[in-house]
Amino acid sequence: MLAGRHLVLGVTGGVAAYKAVYLARRLIEEGVEVRAVMTPTAQNFVGEATFAAVTGTQPIIELFGHDDVSPHTSLARWADAVVIAPATASTISKLAAGESSNALIATVLATTAPVFVAPAMHSEMWEHPATRANISRLTDFGYTIVPPQSGSLAGGDEGIGRLADPEDILKMVRSIFDGGDLAGSTVLITAGGTREPIDPVRYIGNRSSGKMGNALATAAHARGAQVILVTAAPPPGNLPGIEVIAVDTAAEMAEATWGRVDIADIAVMAAAVADFRPADVATGKLRRTDGSPELLLEPTPDILRGITKRDNRPYLVGFAAEVGSLDAAVEKARTKGVDLLVGNDISIDGSGFGSDSNQIALIYPDGTTKHHPLLPKRQVADVIWDAVVEQRAST
Ligand code: PMT
Repeated sequence: MLAGRHLVLGVTGGVAAYKAVYLARRLIEEGVEVRAVMTPTAQNFVGEATFAAVTGTQPIIELFGHDDVSPHTSLARWADAVVIAPATASTISKLAAGESSNALIATVLATTAPVFVAPAMHSEMWEHPATRANISRLTDFGYTIVPPQSGSLAGGDEGIGRLADPEDILKMVRSIFDGGDLAGSTVLITAGGTREPIDPVRYIGNRSSGKMGNALATAAHARGAQVILVTAAPPPGNLPGIEVIAVDTAAEMAEATWGRVDIADIAVMAAAVADFRPADVATGKLRRTDGSPELLLEPTPDILRGITKRDNRPYLVGFAAEVGSLDAAVEKARTKGVDLLVGNDISIDGSGFGSDSNQIALIYPDGTTKHHPLLPKRQVADVIWDAVVEQRAST
């Protein structure tokens, strides 16, 4: 329920600031108590008097000159949620760096409440690698990004970068308090690339960064799930509200995953797990002077298969990283015993290992395949959860 909640509305200096006025009004109609915090440049687009009139309280713009000697910490503690709409590239960059240079950033840094960031900017700015990296960092912090839409932009331009519809922002905020469509579900996710030791120094590994799994975990949490993330690439810092179990090898990942799977309603295997490991791990460092070593490999545990064999297994999503064609992924969807398979062609630019975006196809055991465009991994995660929620509701 939104009614009675306390919400800090951060407004930054973009032309979409006028839509924040409507958002404030809609929140108030829903019974939410709203306090606006404006960046100084936001005043170029909307006056503080407008927010004062709509919210019934004077917006905070400066940290000093108030009766309250510490308005940012007071607001941070008061808030049940913080929504930044619109969020400019500049504010996103400052948030990513933790650069507390105005009252809004200080409030966000000081709060433990859920934070929603609704970016709005020109397409080129949204697609710039610096913005992509900053957005990815914000998702690592556990912030929910309300993705911008395509449409007309300032100055008569067209493209992606338009502020999300205020009604959609409202819906996302509501889902936090209403529980979300994964509320009551425990979700187990594997992520990252396992490392199989050769000697105390070297390992056999792969290029998985864990970003896809992190995005799935953050999205599931935002949709109300209890989340357990078993990862060989633990994210820097905490993922608030998510239980992170760090592992190195396929065997460790198998043990942690199988140890938790009985409490999971949904399991998503996004990890790139080594299929083979050295049969004997050298106890000392292998030396060039001893000549080329011969490595005998043995299979690792098949984690996904270990789940399909269980009675009462959770709803199961597998991944398949393929190169050039998803034909093999369609075959895996038919034969692996999963409910849904996410195929990604890692040879597509910006897709698969290490990137902030991914291009996936959702493949069902009957071979039905739904292709999706290249999207930020956080959006891909929502596409996957939408499909999981829909399929579970229909069975
Ligand atoms: O981490 P990122 O950099 O964000 O990259 C994301 C990703 C490309 C790693 C991810 O999107 C992805 O495709 N993950 C699966 C990669 C993979 O190894 O696919 P596979 O076809 O080899 O394995 C099929 C399925 O079996 C996967 O769900 C895998 O987790 C699982 N598996 C594989 C081997 C094994 N021993 N145990 C398993 O459970």
